[in-house]
Amino acid sequence: MSIALIILAAGKGTRMESDLPKVLHKIAGAPMLVHAMQSGIALTPERIIVVAGHGADLVQAAAQEYDAEAEVVIQSEQLGTAHAVAQAKAALEDFDGDALVLYGDTPFISHDTLEAMAVARAHHDVVVLGFEAVDPARYGRLVMQGETLERIVEFKDASEEERMITLCNSGVISADAKTLFDLIDAVGNDNAGEEYYLTDIIGIARARGLSATAVTCDESETLGINSRADLARAEASFQIRARATLLEDGVTMQAPDTVFLSYDTVIGRDAEIEPNVIFGPGATIESGARIRAFSHLEGCHVSRGSVVGPFARLRPGAELAEDVHVGNFVEVKNAMLAEGVKANHLSYIGDADIGERTNIGAGTITCNYDGVFKHRTTIGADAFIGSNTMLVAPVTVGNGALTGSGSVITKNVPDGALALGRAPQVTKEGHGRKLFEMLKARKAKLTKGTN
Ligand code: UD1
Ligand code: CA
Repeated sequence: MSIALIILAAGKGTRMESDLPKVLHKIAGAPMLVHAMQSGIALTPERIIVVAGHGADLVQAAAQEYDAEAEVVIQSEQLGTAHAVAQAKAALEDFDGDALVLYGDTPFISHDTLEAMAVARAHHDVVVLGFEAVDPARYGRLVMQGETLERIVEFKDASEEERMITLCNSGVISADAKTLFDLIDAVGNDNAGEEYYLTDIIGIARARGLSATAVTCDESETLGINSRADLARAEASFQIRARATLLEDGVTMQAPDTVFLSYDTVIGRDAEIEPNVIFGPGATIESGARIRAFSHLEGCHVSRGSVVGPFARLRPGAELAEDVHVGNFVEVKNAMLAEGVKANHLSYIGDADIGERTNIGAGTITCNYDGVFKHRTTIGADAFIGSNTMLVAPVTVGNGALTGSGSVITKNVPDGALALGRAPQVTKEGHGRKLFEMLKARKAKLTKGTN
């Protein structure tokens, strides 16, 4: 069965108090829209239609950055959820299959739940996702008759009796696409909110003799985000689930509550993550690697047996091969560190290639930026970079070469060479003692003056 996702994302999100469209606020490093797309994409849909309105250009860019195939249709006036879905009709004119409506601000619907809806669809024309709400508040209520969903009534239009119902509408609906658009054509706006309610299609479907049912999921999946407080709660709930998954998958964490993950963090079995580690987007950590406390990693790859931190920073493009050590206060960006490289203290390695087993001394800096252009530093295998070496890129240091501590390396160093780029030392016998005596005498004179 081919599926078209229709993701509603036109709303302004007034309560976010933001210039950014609501669906672009991030949870675990990705816009909530991307989370919604991600859960729908697990069904391998043939088409993805995002209905955008407020900040449509930004919404389109984010949707297509995540999936270039996503199509964006514009709802210029937000006249209600049925009106929003209707905007996808033209785009899906020649589409044959099921439409699944998701909300861009309801990011956590699970794959299992969507599968359960697909199963129910085999027996019913329209399937709605509902949940038992602890506090049903202003949600739409599902009016059931046994297995059959008879209609959905919005809170504003509900009677006292209907408001007692605790089975609520999540907003997720699936039906054959042609049937869905036919039903929507019949929806009016004669209600308390003068809106075109998508929820009205249930009553219309039943009146036409079509069957409808509800599938239920846990309330945590249908968590909608309307405010910054909701956003923070969503972030917390994502983190709790992501940490639990890692623990189940065999990752060691002594203090999981202090580890922060991104929507796409991948960590292998038997890896160890010490307390207070933050993963930005795009980090993959192989089995058996160890990330020590207070490190920050994004856009990087750490291979088996490598140790990172404590207090290390891996930025986008940091590639660590096996058994690499990156220690405290070392920053790595857009650099390949081959097997067995050690950079243990206080260094910046940016735009560089470092060969196998090379040792980078404390305080080494790749001077990669000339104020306009970025340049690369290339270091061979088994080299030894002395402490506090400045490598002024573009520059190459050969295999087995050494640089003296404190050197400023501006010219290429051939294989096996020793490069010294520093002022020669001058030592003057006895001058230290004389200088001290002179200074102490000056101090004594000054102190006498003040007493
Ligand atoms: C909707 C449902 C309600 C359900 C609740 C769950 C309707 C009429 N009501 O109510 O039964 O319990 O969601 O959260 O469907 N949107 C558009 N264009 C519009 C209107 C809305 O794109 O013209 C988008 C919004 O950006 C949002 C989603 O659709 O992502 C839901 O709209 P919202 O106004 O929040 O609906 P609720 O009143 O919460
Ligand atoms: Ca809402």
